[in-house]
Amino acid sequence: MPGVSEPQVSASVTLRAPAKLTLSLRVTGKRSDGYHLLDAEMVTVDLVDELTFVDGDDLRVDGPAAEDVPDDGRNLVRRALQAVARRAEVHLHKRIPAGAGLGGGSADAAAVLRWSGCDDLALAASLGSDVPFCLVGGRARVRGIGEALEPLPFEERRFTLLTPPRLSVSTLAVYAARDDLDGPSADGPNDLEPAALVVAPELARWRDKLGDATGRTPALAGSGSTWFVEGTFPEVERGVVVRTMRP
Ligand code: C5P
Repeated sequence: MPGVSEPQVSASVTLRAPAKLTLSLRVTGKRSDGYHLLDAEMVTVDLVDELTFVDGDDLRVDGPAAEDVPDDGRNLVRRALQAVARRAEVHLHKRIPAGAGLGGGSADAAAVLRWSGCDDLALAASLGSDVPFCLVGGRARVRGIGEALEPLPFEERRFTLLTPPRLSVSTLAVYAARDDLDGPSADGPNDLEPAALVVAPELARWRDKLGDATGRTPALAGSGSTWFVEGTFPEVERGVVVRTMRP
């Protein structure tokens, strides 16, 4: 109708932000700035956060893993928006537990970069060392401090994860403890495991719970707190079965 403007309906875009699982991690050195050099294998799994973007400037967090996730400037969604100089109202539905070694915050930041059309791995790395892998996804050998990615062929695999409730482990604290221990290598696939057990000794109880229920030797996901075994064990109490996803 002439003279009457149509109401503005902002386009809403929803993106999935999948968790990453670090299947193996060797610490190969240390940079002069204190960051550790890695040689790791990471895969994307189908435990996903969801981000919905509309016009505006806000962040709302809900979902089964939203507890203790800040919605202020500490949230990587806000930091990623700032890094790409974009504004949006974001509704973040959290399913990936925080502080669990599954790269949840990094996955959310990578989703913001994808939404904005940014594929700059150096910018991704400036937000966190897991963000480059989360941006590319799939399966990769990851080196440097996390920014050097070598894509690997997709493999269909399933894993059972056990994330201890109310136990989040600080990545920074685990690397610091590893330095204090003078960098022991682990017997298992993850060099961060001995240090994580020093930072959070109660992790051992959850490792044993998963080991007893499955008859397998659990590995720690990244810096923890999640333990995982390969295979499907729906009988594990609180266990979550995930499968690998293509990029
Ligand atoms: O990069 P992100 O924020 O995940 O790392 C948290 C902390 O973990 C860093 O501040 C650093 O102390 C430590 N870190 C490290 N080497 C890496 C990754 C993280 O020392 N490759």
